[in-house]
Amino acid sequence: MGNQVINSGRRGGHLAATVAANPGMASIELDIQDPKSIEAAANKLIADFPKLNVLINNAGIMNFDDVTTRVDEELLVSTITTNLLGSIRMTGALI
Ligand SMILES: NC(=O)c1ccc[n+]([C@@H]2O[C@H](COP(=O)([O-])OP(=O)(O)OC[C@H]3O[C@@H](n4cnc5c(N)ncnc54)[C@H](OP(=O)(O)O)[C@@H]3O)[C@@H](O)[C@H]2O)c1
Repeated sequence: MGNQVINSGRRGGHLAATVAANPGMASIELDIQDPKSIEAAANKLIADFPKLNVLINNAGIMNFDDVTTRVDEELLVSTITTNLLGSIRMTGALI
């Protein structure tokens, strides 16, 4: 429908392969766990793609935790940071 799709993730090699397989697609490296990376990506997107009008917050992790012991604090924080805070921060940065 003529939309410009911009794919995102942490692994540049995977992004490059996806763009190569889908002519016309663009990509930007982003670690949604890192507020600085979000800010940098949002600024670049706004500058390079001023017509951008849809954000799909799809980056997510859901790693298994060992429920027989206490909650893994590192896993807990990284999951919430990626799946919840990342979406809120990315949306806010683009608005
Ligand atoms: N698969 C299912 O059955 C299912 C069902 C319900 C909901 N979901 C949800 O749908 C979403 C995608 O699931 P999926 O199965 O497609 O997962 P997936 O195959 O593991 O893909 C996750 C994607 O998120 C990116 N990502 C992860 N952490 C990131 C980070 N810190 N910064 C930027 N990108 C990051 C990964 O790219 P990089 O690793 O290169 O960064 C990858 O492209 C998740 O939120 C998941 O919880 C999935």
